[in-house]
Amino acid sequence: MKILLLGPPGGGKGTQAKYLINRLNIPQISTGDMLREHVNNKTDLGLKAKEYMSAGALVPDEVILGMMKGRLVDKDCNNGYILDGFPRTIPQAEGLDLLLEELDQKIDLIIVIKVKDDNIVERMGGRRVHPSSGRIYHIKYNPPKNEGKDDQTGEELIIRDDDQENTVRKRLEIYHKETSPLIEYYKSRSRVCHIDGEQSIDQVSQSIDKILS
Ligand code: AP5
Repeated sequence: MKILLLGPPGGGKGTQAKYLINRLNIPQISTGDMLREHVNNKTDLGLKAKEYMSAGALVPDEVILGMMKGRLVDKDCNNGYILDGFPRTIPQAEGLDLLLEELDQKIDLIIVIKVKDDNIVERMGGRRVHPSSGRIYHIKYNPPKNEGKDDQTGEELIIRDDDQENTVRKRLEIYHKETSPLIEYYKSRSRVCHIDGEQSIDQVSQSIDKILS
């Protein structure tokens, strides 16, 4: 199954993608995680992407499409995948359509997670992440067993650079302008389902379960 998770920054896409990995045994493809890996490894792409990311801006479409080109043909994608954070603009969606056409594939389901802007800002302030695994926590809504430490490795959790309130507001502005038009774009191309992302994390997962069954 090929699923696309669409929603605002901090809307819970990464959290639900982790749930779906276990539920469906398919990989999460997160352009945000891929970019952060490039930034950490100081690759040319990472150096280019870093300034956009810390400003809360989108990395240019051609950079993203180039990065994604080989990913969908990796062996772990044979039974499907979960796209998280890609596509994010109409040109990226058109680029993805071309890639899918070449592979004779289509996206089966678009899940749109809806959360109000003010709740997003509050959520981002409490987000903590384990950088090497991408595991996501929240100090109030999904706290780690030991404060500041990853449950599985005990390693330190970090606060993402782009989770400062002014950067989050900028990311939300870009989401409304550039990314939310994708909901309309996909209406005629795929099955689009909307979910109330303001429920608890477990309730959101249950709503996704209902759609899948
Ligand atoms: P990316 O990493 O993709 O960030 P994002 O889309 O902005 O989404 P987030 O990862 O911030 O949030 P999320 O929806 O995954 O929420 P999460 O589950 O963590 O992109 C980062 C940057 O990279 C972009 O700004 C851009 O510069 C660049 N980039 C990436 N892809 C790109 C592309 N395709 N094109 C161009 N540029 C690109 O949840 C958030 C918090 O809330 C967590 O603490 C979590 O525990 C908590 N939470 C989750 N669900 C709930 C719930 N139901 N109730 C309460 N708390 C909850």
